[in-house]
Amino acid sequence: MTEKIRFRAIKGVRDILPPESELCNRVEQTARELFATYGYDEIRLPIFEQTELFARSVGADTEIVSKEMYTFADAGAGEGTISLRPEATASVCRAYIEHGMHTSPGDVKLYYIGPMFRRERPQKGRYRQFYQIGAEVLGQSDAPGIDAEVIEMLLRFFRRVGLDVPLADASGEVARGQSSRAGATSVTLFINSIGCPQCRPKYVERLRGALEKVRDRLGADSQRRIQTNPLRVLDSKLESEQAAIETLPRVADHLCVACRDHYAEFQQQLRLRGVAFTENWRLVRGLDYYTRTTFEITAPGLGAQNAVCGGGRYDGLIELLGGPKQVKGIGFAIGTDRLILALQETERQASGRGGACLAPTTVFVAWMGAAAYPPAVRLARRLREAGLRVELPHTEQKLKKALGLADKLGARFAIILGEDEISSGQFTVKHLATGEQTKLAEVDLVAHLRAVSGG
Ligand code: HAM
Repeated sequence: MTEKIRFRAIKGVRDILPPESELCNRVEQTARELFATYGYDEIRLPIFEQTELFARSVGADTEIVSKEMYTFADAGAGEGTISLRPEATASVCRAYIEHGMHTSPGDVKLYYIGPMFRRERPQKGRYRQFYQIGAEVLGQSDAPGIDAEVIEMLLRFFRRVGLDVPLADASGEVARGQSSRAGATSVTLFINSIGCPQCRPKYVERLRGALEKVRDRLGADSQRRIQTNPLRVLDSKLESEQAAIETLPRVADHLCVACRDHYAEFQQQLRLRGVAFTENWRLVRGLDYYTRTTFEITAPGLGAQNAVCGGGRYDGLIELLGGPKQVKGIGFAIGTDRLILALQETERQASGRGGACLAPTTVFVAWMGAAAYPPAVRLARRLREAGLRVELPHTEQKLKKALGLADKLGARFAIILGEDEISSGQFTVKHLATGEQTKLAEVDLVAHLRAVSGG
C-alpha cells in the first residue's frame, strides 16, 4: 500500500488565496493605470539570470548576494551558475544595454510586476518568494526633478489604493492639523543622500575610523562590518548599539558640493509637489548600486518589516554592467505582500477610493426546470459580455437552495428563470439585500443591471 503524503508549501513561500489574490490584482492594475499616466511602459523580465549579474550590481558582499540567492548550475547556463532574481533593477539595466535602449528618445521609463526570491528568515511580511511592483527611469539626466516625480507618483499610488498619505506644508513637513494622524495611521517617506564615488569613499573611511573607536559597544555582526561594509552598521536595529551609532559622523556633512546641491534641490522639488518627507541620515539601503538619493516608505501596522517600498538613484550602474557611459538611473520597488498587509491592517481595501479598483457586481442565475437551462446559459453569456460577474449553477436546484447559495457567494442580484418566466419572456430580478423583485424582458434586464451596478 502506498504511504499517504500531505504536501505542503515550502517554508517561507505561500499561496495567495482569494480574496487576497483579488486585492493583489486590483493593486497591480492601479499601478499599471497610474504609472501609464506618467509615461511608463511595462517590461516583462526573466525570473532567472546569470548569478554574476546580481553579484556585480547588487554587490557580491551584500547579504542578498552572499547569503540569500537561490543559485544553481544549469546545462544551458554555460560556465557560471544562474540565480532566481532577488530583485529586478539589475535585470532592467541588463535589458536596457542588451536592447540598445539608450538610443530611445527621452528617458526610458519602465515598470515591472512579479515575484522575487530571497532566502531570508521568514516572518510576518518577509517571505522567500515575494512580489514587487517596481519602476525605473534611465536616461542622460540626473535632474532632481526626476527623483521628486518618481516619489510623487509613488505617493499618489499609495493614496489611490487606500493608504493614508500625509500632505506637506511648504517646508516639506507634514502639514499642520495632520500631524497627530501622521505616523500612527499614515505612511512615512524617509529620504537621504549617500553621495557619489567622489565623496562617499572619504566618508566611509571617516566612518570606519569612528566605528573603530566604539567597537566594544557594538555586537559581533557590526564589528565584522566595520571592515566589510561600514555603512551597513547604520542600518542596525539592535537596541544595545543605538547610543554608539548616534555618535557617528553623518554623510550629509561630508557630501561633495555637487551632491549637496543635488540633495538640496531634490528636497526643494519634493516641496514643490506637496510631498511630506522625513530625513533619515541612517538610510543607506542594502544594495551596493546606490548613489545620492535613497528613500524608503514605511507603513503602520506591519511590525518589524514595515518598509513597503525602497528605492534610489544608481547613476553608475549601467556603465558598471558594460553599458554606455553617462546613463543615469533611479527607481523603486514596492513590496506587494507588505502593501496588502498594510491595507488589510487599515481595513481600507483598494475599492475604498477610485473607481478603478471596484470589483464587478455578482449576479446569480437561478433556473428551474430543464427547459430553463438553455435560456439561462444564453443570459449568463450576455451578462458576462456586459462585464458582470455571473454564477450559473449547472445542475438544477430548488429556488430556496439557489437563493441561499447566491447569498453565500456575495451576489447582489438573483435572476429567477422558471416556467412562468420562459413563457412570458419576463425575467424576475431579485435584489438580495432588500428582497425587492422586478420583472424585466431580457434586453432591458442587461441594461438595468449595468446601470444599477455602475457599469
Ligand atoms: P529592496 O529594498 O531590497 O529594494 O526591496 C524593495 C521592497 O521589496 C522592500 O521595501 C519590501 O517592501 C519588499 N521586500 C524585500 N524583501 C522582501 C521579502 N523577503 N519579503 C517581502 N517583501 C520584501 C529593491 O529590491 C530595489 N531593486 C529597489 C530599487 C529599484 N531601487 C532602485 N530601483
